[in-house]
Amino acid sequence: ARVAVLISGSGTNMAALLYASRLPNSPFEIVLVASNDPHAGGLSIAEAEGIPTFALSHKGMERADHDLLMDEAIREHGAQFVALAGYMRILSDEMVARWEGKMLNIHPSLLPKYKGLDPHARALDAGDEYAGCSVHLVTGELDGGQVLGQSEVAILAGDTPETLAYRVKLAEHQLYPRALSDFVSQPFDSAWLLERVRSLAL
Ligand code: GRF
Repeated sequence: ARVAVLISGSGTNMAALLYASRLPNSPFEIVLVASNDPHAGGLSIAEAEGIPTFALSHKGMERADHDLLMDEAIREHGAQFVALAGYMRILSDEMVARWEGKMLNIHPSLLPKYKGLDPHARALDAGDEYAGCSVHLVTGELDGGQVLGQSEVAILAGDTPETLAYRVKLAEHQLYPRALSDFVSQPFDSAWLLERVRSLAL
């Protein structure tokens, strides 16, 4: 499956997806890394790895116009799926609708807890035992789509939002490639396939 990754920052999750895509039998490849911030650190990682990049600042642009140009670049590269990886822009309703069921995001909390900003500080304030990360489908509700995979990270005595964010991010790097692989491979364990096999065996 051909995947475009959208980033705004350091791009470590993008890098995890990219390196995973180069392992034998990966069901996905990264065809484009696009950013709304031309200075996003992740763009240089992608360039160094020979992946096409596209950067377009959203400043001074209508949200829908910006998304339309991002979408054009995504489609020019033949992407079938979009993975948001630290993409810090809310998408236009039109963009979300165009990629419904084909766009994933990673969020550093155990959704449905702590949607939006500062999830680590909020988990600490609440006295939670576990924090974690979630990969989910993107819908019109921020961090609200179907959860596709999660990993838990134990909160330790003395954790700060920074120390916790660091350990959660390590978990993100393991979770995202696995969740994306499973998601793009779904057709191979579809109900149709299982039904065919059952009808042969019984
Ligand atoms: C990650 O924590 C991700 O969950 C959140 O933004 C951060 C992006 O980090 N949405 P990076 O750019 O992948 O290093």
